[in-house]
Amino acid sequence: MPSAGLRVPVRSRCRGTLGGVERPLVLGIESSCDDTACALVDGAGRVLASVVSSQLAAHAPYGGVVPEIASREHLVNWPAVSREALAGAGVAISDLDAVAATRGPGLVGALLVGLSLGKALAWARRLPFFAVHHLEGHLYSPFLAPAGEPAAPIPERFVGLVVSGGHTALYRVAGAAVETLAETRDDAFGEAFDKFGKRLGLAYPQGPKVDALAELGEAKRAPLPRLAGTEELFFSYSGLKTQALVALERLEARGVATRANAAADPPLPGEVLDLAAGFRDSAVRQVLDRLTRLHRRARFDRLAVSGGAAANRELRRRLPGWAAERGVELALVPLVYSGDNAAMIAFAALRRLRLGLPADDPLAATAVSRLPVG
Ligand code: KG4
Ligand code: ZN
Repeated sequence: MPSAGLRVPVRSRCRGTLGGVERPLVLGIESSCDDTACALVDGAGRVLASVVSSQLAAHAPYGGVVPEIASREHLVNWPAVSREALAGAGVAISDLDAVAATRGPGLVGALLVGLSLGKALAWARRLPFFAVHHLEGHLYSPFLAPAGEPAAPIPERFVGLVVSGGHTALYRVAGAAVETLAETRDDAFGEAFDKFGKRLGLAYPQGPKVDALAELGEAKRAPLPRLAGTEELFFSYSGLKTQALVALERLEARGVATRANAAADPPLPGEVLDLAAGFRDSAVRQVLDRLTRLHRRARFDRLAVSGGAAANRELRRRLPGWAAERGVELALVPLVYSGDNAAMIAFAALRRLRLGLPADDPLAATAVSRLPVG
């Protein structure tokens, strides 16, 4: 790690207990979709500040993320978000050692805003610049610690599971190499929750709301069959989503209310809550099933789970048991870094610095909507 041990002063109002910040100090930027995020991570992987500004209100009237609005909102939000991150960490732009920004995958217009800001900052300050893959950010985020503690060491080898709104995938990480083992063939885990929740009349992001409804139901009363068993590793959630939507239609035909009523408690009848629980149970079982298949094929002893949908309560309850049964050491992303954030982008850049991997040319880096990992 370059210049380890040097200290940058931190204002006491940020983290009174830290006492100092290790070099290199990395500023991260994430703007791949509808969150404008800026974070500061130090050489020990401590998150000194992580600010995420949501654009949900701006997109709400349209029922989904509008790319053009996302780009404009990033531009509007960036000054306040970056100021708050720097002030929260108690550091100045002149203290930075490196700058990192997401280059893809995502909405190109949205990515371009954050990437261009990062490139300009790095170029103006003559700092190393890292154009980071969004999934690379998620992949290492389970090793970040909440509340300003140093990050755990990133193991040399591990299997990474990313479950989000855009991705459901398994990766094998070995040193600097990242190999994609499996991806979803259709919907992502979070996307299926969002679509099921939309049918229930819930607003985006529906995943956490469906998860909360499922807590009130009983999965055994509405079991949804898993996909036909194969030994393949790929994920698929569109079949499960369709089964759940068809089950809702059947309930509606029987006169059961299937649109959430915010004024009622619970907001939906018991049959629908049971269906939400059955849907979630089946979605989580698919994840555990793929992990079991992979483990049978080629044993692994470390698993790191990340992504917005890694906040799913049932998944978080069941993963530790799955791992303990097989002697697998589990790193579950802290809830605060499960959704899109810039701390994970800065941390991925820190990893590259630690491995001695080269920085990117700020004049040449471009935003890309589709980008394979590795
Ligand atoms: O990682 P993320 O913030 O953005 C993407 O890169 O996609 O993930 C957001 C996704 C959304 O689909 C959201 O509904 C889902 O994660 N999600 C959940 C839960 N919390 C967020 N899905 C199921 N259960 C949850 N508790
Ligand atoms: Zn993400």
